[in-house]
Amino acid sequence: MRKVRIAVLVSGGGTNLQTLIDAIEKGDINGRIEAVISDHEGAYALERAKKHNIKAVYINRNQLSENLLPELQKLNIELIVLAGFLSILDRELVKAYEGRIINIHPSLIPSFCGKGFYGEKVHKAALDYGVKVSGATVHFVDEGTDSGPIILQESVPVYIEDTIETLAARVLQVEHKLLPAAVGLFCEGRLCIVGRKVNILKKEV
Ligand code: GAR
Repeated sequence: MRKVRIAVLVSGGGTNLQTLIDAIEKGDINGRIEAVISDHEGAYALERAKKHNIKAVYINRNQLSENLLPELQKLNIELIVLAGFLSILDRELVKAYEGRIINIHPSLIPSFCGKGFYGEKVHKAALDYGVKVSGATVHFVDEGTDSGPIILQESVPVYIEDTIETLAARVLQVEHKLLPAAVGLFCEGRLCIVGRKVNILKKEV
């Protein structure tokens, strides 16, 4: 089967990117990361890419509108994965890649998501609210913020003694499982969007 051409967009450390690289190197995902693109010049995720001989591209946040879509098209990218990418994508790009952009979010959507909820802010909001469970969500991206059809979700417990750091670490463990799983399903052609729902098709035998 031909490998799906993937671009991973990142802003930070890139532990989720690393799980994708590892899963691909193990042969668990029928895809190939053609480029890692960051809106932060110093993002450690770019170093992770270089260590694995993956093209690492920095695009200034102010130039994303002009430069991101052409870069993706030049590389014939078929799937975009947002792995801790903190800039908002242009409408035009979201339209061009409808049903082909996957995002990971560190809460159980629709809780603690949308504008302003990213990274540690999500965990702080969950702790401040006093929820007993949080978790991670992988979803397709639509024109809203964190509002597209959900692919996979998994919960984690929240304990009274949790800090932002301990909760983030517990959620991150789940993220590292869900993101490669969702990308793997996409690359096998097993994700079917029906309205707001994602139907996961059975593996062909
Ligand atoms: C992850 O927790 C991811 O869910 C979150 O940023 C972190 C990136 O970590 N994304 C968002 O908050 C998007 N709204 P990483 O760089 O180690 O993969």
